[in-house]
Amino acid sequence: MNNKSSILLKALNKENLPTPPIWYMRQAGRYMPEYRQVRKKFKNFLDMCKNPEVCCELALQPINAFNLDAGILFSDILTIPDALGLEVKFEENKGPIFNNPIKSIKDIENLKPFYPESLSYVYEAVSNIKNSLPNNIPLIGFTGSPWTLAAYSIEGRSSKDFKKTINFIKTHEKFSHMLLAKFSDACFLYIREQVKSGADVIQIFDSWANVLDEENFSNFSLQYLKSLISALKNDTITKDIPIILFLRSPKCSTYELINTSTDCISLYTDMQNFQIDIASGKVAIQGNLDPKTLLESKDIIKKESYKILNKFRDYPGYIFNLGHGLTPNINPDNVKFLTDIVREF
Ligand code: CP3
Repeated sequence: MNNKSSILLKALNKENLPTPPIWYMRQAGRYMPEYRQVRKKFKNFLDMCKNPEVCCELALQPINAFNLDAGILFSDILTIPDALGLEVKFEENKGPIFNNPIKSIKDIENLKPFYPESLSYVYEAVSNIKNSLPNNIPLIGFTGSPWTLAAYSIEGRSSKDFKKTINFIKTHEKFSHMLLAKFSDACFLYIREQVKSGADVIQIFDSWANVLDEENFSNFSLQYLKSLISALKNDTITKDIPIILFLRSPKCSTYELINTSTDCISLYTDMQNFQIDIASGKVAIQGNLDPKTLLESKDIIKKESYKILNKFRDYPGYIFNLGHGLTPNINPDNVKFLTDIVREF
């Protein structure tokens, strides 16, 4: 896909545009009645992700409903740990639960290799979605960051503070690095296959960057993000694919984030100390409207989104998005309203 036809690719190329491209994290999901209709047919969420035709249908739902500027692969970040034999399932209102989480250094030593072909159902979904999207709408593929995948794999479930994981990495530092290196290699191969199958852009989700203090973030997350992005920028297949890096409130400087060589930084809702002036001209920016705004009145939605649009009016390469994903309690009418007012701004 060339930059000329897509405003998302233009923004990722740090062009200043009269209207920013718009897409939403978790744009396909439970807030949409048409998603819930399909979801009903599957007991286990990952079984649904293993069906490429259904993934294609789900990825197109928000494009058809809101006319957005990008599609995103319908899948989940936990496909890699599942493929490594950790057996991920999703329980109603509990989030992901691992049947075989990492409990000891033995579990790390015994972890089976990552075979990229074990996730062929994901690449098939990528190719189906790519073939169904209009020509000027790029497809975003994605992966969890090595740290976020390791955190889920050790904790075995979601958690507010990932205490068990933090204890584990402090006690078994050397083996934790082995695990992180393994996830890094898997992420690289996984992204490479998604790009081969048609992904135009890649987003890396470091959703649990916030649970690490400054030193641990640098040691257990940032260095792996840097090496993953560097590997992608040096690979013949992935070198020209723009990368968006989403991090939830990382304890590091703007300079360190830019230094990862990512093309775009996706700002979480409360990344207040991010320095826009330092980032300008070096990386594109995406985000960061609080998803909770969409639970408010139309007046408040307008006021809050205008604040962000004004803040980034002159920024070279700004993509309108939320600070985190759309939640199931959001009314799709408000998503439509928000999209329309951003376009008319
Ligand atoms: O349009 C899209 O963005 C859909 C594709 C997508 C999903 N998950 C589908 C999904 C993407 C890009 C993700 C990423 C993902 N998955 C992240 C990173 C983004 C973030 O939110 O920080 C994370 C941490 C996960 C792991 C995950 N998946 C959790 C913790 C949960 C349970 C909590 C929840 O939101 O339900 C999921 C399940 C999940 N992934 C659902 C969807 C649509 C809901 C499952 C259902 O319908 O039962």
